[in-house]
Amino acid sequence: MYMRRCHPSFLSGRSASVSIRASILPRHHLRHSFSTTMAKLELSVPDLTLPDGNKIPMIGFGTGTAWYKAPGAKDQACIDATKTAIKVGYTHLDGAEMYNTEEELGDAIRASKVPREKLFVTTKVDDSKDSINDIPAALDRSLKNMGLEYVDLYLIHSPFFAKGDKQRLQKAWAEMEQVAAAGKAKSIGVSNFLKEHLDTILETCKVRPAINQIEFHPYLQHGDLLAYHKSKDIKVSAYAPQTPVTRAKGGPLDGYLDSLSKKYAVNPGEILLRWCVDQNVVAITTSSKEQRLSDMLRIFTFTLTPKEVEEISDLGKQHHFRAFWGHIFDANDKS
Ligand SMILES: NC(=O)c1ccc[n+]([C@@H]2O[C@H](COP(=O)([O-])OP(=O)(O)OC[C@H]3O[C@@H](n4cnc5c(N)ncnc54)[C@H](OP(=O)(O)O)[C@@H]3O)[C@@H](O)[C@H]2O)c1
Repeated sequence: MYMRRCHPSFLSGRSASVSIRASILPRHHLRHSFSTTMAKLELSVPDLTLPDGNKIPMIGFGTGTAWYKAPGAKDQACIDATKTAIKVGYTHLDGAEMYNTEEELGDAIRASKVPREKLFVTTKVDDSKDSINDIPAALDRSLKNMGLEYVDLYLIHSPFFAKGDKQRLQKAWAEMEQVAAAGKAKSIGVSNFLKEHLDTILETCKVRPAINQIEFHPYLQHGDLLAYHKSKDIKVSAYAPQTPVTRAKGGPLDGYLDSLSKKYAVNPGEILLRWCVDQNVVAITTSSKEQRLSDMLRIFTFTLTPKEVEEISDLGKQHHFRAFWGHIFDANDKS
């Protein structure tokens, strides 16, 4: 019998530990237990408790980036990958109006036969479209696309539509509060918001944003943004968390990630996912490959030491790389 306790700092709610033999845990501790195809091990994904009391699984499967498409015919590969993700144990599914994959997400959910309440579904209002001017209508369209009655988390995709107009941001947030009050979004949050955008919302909000989904990896740590979130009790989720391995290889982290991946017998990308989780940051990833999806769940069988987390952060600060929203930021802007 084997069990390894996770770093207590991020554990909250039902999943008080991660085991590779679920039989040693009471069933009610598990949001959705599963067998990895890797080694037929049973694991559970821990949750992070949001400020509103709802719980979000610490790893999410994204239907953007690799799956993003123009409106039109459904992408069967996206449906299949999402079904596979659910099958191997991902209960947290990240979508967006902008990705044009909400229908695929809904199809995969229905095909998975996993009860709706066992899943954590996110979508985002597209702020580059008129949708941002009528958020209740935008969410209704998204729910129709997915064939769902509610989402677990609804996000404003980015603050850039407001172009610095504080009242536009505050109005949009008031509409987010409306959809939460109507029960169509269990939690509400934002994405790609910087300190100034969050401060603007906090000035007038009745319900504070539960979470901010940002590009976050060692090569883009946004100065003290993480500490700021902590001080305001806003949680953080990381998209593009594996960037130093997938898009920015050749940087100062390569050697250290290799040595840690040998130590923990995982891939370097998994070390980066763990680096997020060990800082209470939810990791949003994706893959088209069942084996990789399964392998990535190994991050719940080990923890990095605080020194290793710090060393990755320090090495990461020696290099700057932004994978998304490059048209908004100057090349050297680390905010
Ligand atoms: N809010 C926003 O503005 C925003 C922006 C971007 C993304 N997101 C969300 O975040 C999700 C994840 O973002 P991401 O795709 O950038 O996450 P990521 O975890 O950094 O990268 C995952 C991608 O990298 C590939 N990959 C993984 N390990 C690899 C390796 N060892 N070598 C080479 N390729 C590897 C995977 O492809 P394979 O298929 O080959 O495994 C997959 O396409 C998106 O789907 C979306 O839901 C949100």
